[in-house]
Amino acid sequence: MSRILIVGSEGQIGSQLSKALSNRDDFDCLFLCDIKEKSRTDLNYFKVDALSYDDLKKFINDNKINEVYHLAAILSAKGEKDPMRTWNLNMNSLFNVLKLAKEGIIEKVFWPSSIAVFGNNNPKNDTPQFSDKEPITSYGISKLAGENWCKYYNKTYGTDIRSIRFPGVMSYDTLSGGGTTDYAVEIFHSFKSKKKYTSFLDRETTLPMIYIDDAIDGIIKLMRASKKKLRIQSSYNLSSFSMSPKMIVEELKKIDNKFQADYAPDYRQTIADSWPNTIDDTYAREDWDWNSKYDFKKTINHILSKLALI
Ligand code: SER
Repeated sequence: MSRILIVGSEGQIGSQLSKALSNRDDFDCLFLCDIKEKSRTDLNYFKVDALSYDDLKKFINDNKINEVYHLAAILSAKGEKDPMRTWNLNMNSLFNVLKLAKEGIIEKVFWPSSIAVFGNNNPKNDTPQFSDKEPITSYGISKLAGENWCKYYNKTYGTDIRSIRFPGVMSYDTLSGGGTTDYAVEIFHSFKSKKKYTSFLDRETTLPMIYIDDAIDGIIKLMRASKKKLRIQSSYNLSSFSMSPKMIVEELKKIDNKFQADYAPDYRQTIADSWPNTIDDTYAREDWDWNSKYDFKKTINHILSKLALI
């Protein structure tokens, strides 16, 4: 049975993954860690700096952890404010986890990559698993390098590191914090407080997105899949639906026609323009039965009902 650690447990994905795993009984023990001070008492939460190899190793050894979900990262938009800090955190925390896997201290790792690995030169529609990748952000560069290192460790040292290239993740309670797709979370909070929303992406900018419940389901499915079936040793393309700011605004106006939104694209527009519109996720479907349960409409309705807006 697994003894699990989520590194970056307080973030958008980590906070929901910890809830989802707590409701399962196919593991022994769940530990949570992040760089923030302990803010809750009911769970096994600890402050650990993922950049400290010694601290991470001690924590993992002391608690006999054998499965790590390493989610700590600086995202695409925030990352551009300090590209070298982004590279340092995203890469060196990953190297710490890869080293622990190589040494046999942990048996299995999940590490998220992103559509940010793609750039302006790959096909925009049905972007394939394998295509030219020239990321334009420090975050994207770190994710692409990280994917290649995961593959290198898996091939060279026989480690079991699994990864998904996530689309923009839509959630309702934890804000994503520094991503190019954050508008899709922020807009619901403006709607709830009856404030006008100014989108930092243009109205027609279409990006691949996924609802948080599907994202968590994907992580758990991939981690529970038979290793023999996994053909991709770097990171799997994953698709759910694609959406533009205008599409959400139209849905929200159907509920409250007084809701107002406008568009003031900033530097994040250039990042979004370099990313795919839609993704081909054939490998994930074939290798570990990936199937999205939430389309655009279902996602919007779920978020609205969770925020008690419908
Ligand atoms: N949602 C992330 C971001 O916008 C992409 O992985 O940075």
